[in-house]
Amino acid sequence: MKRILLLNGPNLNMLGVREPGIYGHDTLDAIEEGFCAYAASKGATAECFQSNHEGALIDRLHAAHGCCDGIVYNPGAHTHYSYALRDAVASIDVPVVEVHLSDISAREEFRRISVIEPACIAQISGRGRQGYLDALDILLERA
Ligand code: DQA
Repeated sequence: MKRILLLNGPNLNMLGVREPGIYGHDTLDAIEEGFCAYAASKGATAECFQSNHEGALIDRLHAAHGCCDGIVYNPGAHTHYSYALRDAVASIDVPVVEVHLSDISAREEFRRISVIEPACIAQISGRGRQGYLDALDILLERA
């Protein structure tokens, strides 16, 4: 059975409240619940982790090495500047798919760059919560 980690970075705990015109009305709890149910329907297990702290996310990525078969990761604003998280993704032998709820290529200039993307096997952007499920499909197809 494939073990998948769903990782969410800063401010994503505020989904449902945070800028619903951009990110939608779903809470992170609802998204995580849907993700775990979808993983189970595909014969995989999923664990979810969210943090607003760069170091905690780095530690969680390191802990996934050897324990996890794939990671679905929305790095939030860390996407655009955290070389430490990019290096953490590159440090582990686990495929990572980067996900964004919004279309980062169609928003402010600073969001167009992802420093995490080069360390990932794919990036999905602008598909809302469906993007997390599509990322899971990519990981399971590859496995
Ligand atoms: C986001 C896009 C980022 O630019 C932003 O900082 C977020 C959410 C998204 O899911 O669309 O926190 O990753």
